[in-house]
Amino acid sequence: MYETLAEQPNAFVQGFDEQRAYSETLKRARELLDAQTEVHVERFVVEILSGLAASWFGLPTSEAGLQRLFVTSKFVFQPSPEPALRKQAQRAGPELKASYDELTKQPASDHGSFLAELFEAGANHDERTTAVMSLVSGFVTATYGSVMAALDSWIESGSLWRLSAVADYGALRRALVQALRERQGPTVLHRTCVKETTLGGTTIARNSRVVLGIGSASNDDAKSEFTWLFGGNYGAQKHACPAQAMAIGVMLGLIAALRERRDLKRLRRFVLGYARPLEPSAAPPMDAEAPATNGSNGSHSSSVEA
Ligand code: HEM
Repeated sequence: MYETLAEQPNAFVQGFDEQRAYSETLKRARELLDAQTEVHVERFVVEILSGLAASWFGLPTSEAGLQRLFVTSKFVFQPSPEPALRKQAQRAGPELKASYDELTKQPASDHGSFLAELFEAGANHDERTTAVMSLVSGFVTATYGSVMAALDSWIESGSLWRLSAVADYGALRRALVQALRERQGPTVLHRTCVKETTLGGTTIARNSRVVLGIGSASNDDAKSEFTWLFGGNYGAQKHACPAQAMAIGVMLGLIAALRERRDLKRLRRFVLGYARPLEPSAAPPMDAEAPATNGSNGSHSSSVEA
């Protein structure tokens, strides 16, 4: 079942070229920044990501839809979600599915998008919704969490404006990978052990829940690849992220465009975080105008000195 459902979306994003992701993101991001006299970094990031998701996957997401995406993603990534978050996610998930169900009814006009590909391949309505939803969810929330984590860390250390010029793609890429090894979003993964397993001398019983620290794993050996940020190597690890190249390209495009906007340097404070922390007693309505939920990683509602 998993293999059948995951095969098409995973293949689509796995085949996506990092350079293509970078240049399309940079172009869009430059256009948006040129049109803005004031930049709200997190809104800028979310707007670019949802625009790219609409273009590449064929599914636009409204402001309310974005809130639902962040709630459900945070719920899925948290090993022990609080009851208030569980309640919100139980509502947001079906609402999100219902809105995407509407959008995947019609043949996609956007040629080349994933949804258009599904129509051409004869996927039925339910398959189309599930497949496209899985990509939009992974794309927007995880990329948002990661790029904000990197920016957050560079702003805190004061190194954002010292990063090498946009022309030096390799250096910017190395700086991003290093930043994500130090601070990431999501920070943990949770799994259920399907058979008794011994790791480092400890036996883990079948059906135990295991929480894996992505941060510690990716910092374990400075020379190791950074793929633990993505749940491992897709193919070698069954549920690892298939979109590593796409995600790196998109994050670099966003960062490169922001760095060109030199006037951001004058901002004394950056407010990072798509969301305010959830308040259990006052669960926000899903259709509220303002963003009201934490991101996939849940910990980026911080203000830091630039
Ligand atoms: C920097 C950005 C990203 C990070 C850090 C990230 C991280 C991850 C992680 C850790 C997993 C494993 C989850 C688990 O096993 O519980 C995962 C899975 C997944 N990611 Fe990403 N991801 C990112 C971007 C993306 C993008 C851009 C897409 C799609 C366009 C995407 C789509 C997926 C999908 C579909 C899965 C599930 C794969 C499966 O189980 O077959 N991710 N991602």
